[in-house]
Amino acid sequence: MTSVIIVIGAGLIGQAIAVRASPPGAVCGPGPGAGDHARRRAARPADAAGRSAQVSKRANVLRVQAEAVRWGERGARVNAISPGIVITPLARDELNGANGAGYRRMIELAPAGRAGTPDEIGTVGELLMTERGAFITGSDVLIDRRRHRVVLLRLDLRPGPDPEGLTVTPENSTALIVGATGSIGRHAVSEALRQGYDVRALVRDRNGAERLLPDGVEFVVGDLARPDTLDAAVDDVDAIVFTHGSSTRESDVRDIDYAGVANVLAALAGRPVRIALMTAVGTTRPGVPYAAWKRRGERLVRASGNDYTIVRPGWFDYNDADQRRIVMRQGDTAQSGGPADGVIARDEIARVLVDSLSSDPANRKTLELAAERGAEQDDLAAVFAALRPDEPGALDGVLDTNTVPVDDEPARFRDDLSRIAGGSQ
Ligand SMILES: NC(=O)c1ccc[n+]([C@@H]2O[C@H](COP(=O)([O-])OP(=O)(O)OC[C@H]3O[C@@H](n4cnc5c(N)ncnc54)[C@H](OP(=O)(O)O)[C@@H]3O)[C@@H](O)[C@H]2O)c1
Repeated sequence: MTSVIIVIGAGLIGQAIAVRASPPGAVCGPGPGAGDHARRRAARPADAAGRSAQVSKRANVLRVQAEAVRWGERGARVNAISPGIVITPLARDELNGANGAGYRRMIELAPAGRAGTPDEIGTVGELLMTERGAFITGSDVLIDRRRHRVVLLRLDLRPGPDPEGLTVTPENSTALIVGATGSIGRHAVSEALRQGYDVRALVRDRNGAERLLPDGVEFVVGDLARPDTLDAAVDDVDAIVFTHGSSTRESDVRDIDYAGVANVLAALAGRPVRIALMTAVGTTRPGVPYAAWKRRGERLVRASGNDYTIVRPGWFDYNDADQRRIVMRQGDTAQSGGPADGVIARDEIARVLVDSLSSDPANRKTLELAAERGAEQDDLAAVFAALRPDEPGALDGVLDTNTVPVDDEPARFRDDLSRIAGGSQ
């Protein structure tokens, strides 16, 4: 988790807070307004300055309360400090200036009978913004008497629904390839190794897999249809690429393609990973029972709370040799059931799946994948970036039209959905 502390206002006091309030490793910096207090004050007539300061300070108390609700949704806490007179260069100027007598009178009348120090205010900032104050948000701490105001914003950036996403970097990350011995899985294994991942292959037949796959792969034996065999496969993985598949028989797709996704997600027990799921173009086509189970697998991935990319490839290796330019579409509108819906080389499918794991612009996107005439792109960031992300909390791809109410889904799916979505809470 990354912590960011933003201190808004009151230069020296803000610095004291920044020094005291930053937990180890936090990024800390001044927000807008830091250090320009004196400049703004000098520019205003005295009466107007007094009135506008009172109104704006009251408004800030209310604003901090209101903003605490909004920022709370992003894992942030917002608090303000309203210290009395604090000995800073600005305060010394005031004491020795034309308003010095009035300033000294304010100090005498203050409950503490003296001015404070920046370090004393920093101590309060430390309480508010470190873990010791983890439950404090939306508050305004009035110290002695209100004069300056410092607004503190602490962001604890969480993985999961955060738009930044759980993007993995290949170095020191383990990618589990599900369906590693398959026609796409074999390419995915090679591509993930090439990109620098530690690669784990889920296989049913270890000896056969060792003959098929390159050196450097870790093998874990498991069967997607047997949930009790999957714990070792998901142990400590950072990313999962699903490339498994069966036939076009509904029962096969339900019990292998769909159940494989459901059982692996359940084995994770809510631990976040980055996911790339391969399904197929036409997954949302109505009246195709096996496709409906693929669509349900997609739904589980979206509901799992993980960051993901769902790739619906066109027809494997139906492309001509000069058809290598990768195109991504959304809405799943090509539904002829033949190569007219798109064609794409197997190695390019694997590349897109593996690329998506380390790509912020690919996060939470559902796409149909095809190739057109032209050369393969070196970098897919712009292609991913042009796509729309799925709506937060939605079960379907952002532009999908043939959506099905959850109540119309089979009980098996509804049970898995509540188990897997519940596990992500
Ligand atoms: N062909 C196309 O044009 C096209 C287009 C779009 C989408 N698709 C989809 O692509 C999928 C097929 O991909 P593919 O051609 O790469 O498949 P594939 O070569 O038949 O490979 C299937 C993989 O899944 C694994 N698998 C099957 N059942 C398993 C189980 N119970 N436990 C663990 N692993 C299991 C297989 O392992 P084993 O080696 O142990 O059998 C194999 O690694 C299908 O779902 C299809 O809908 C195909």
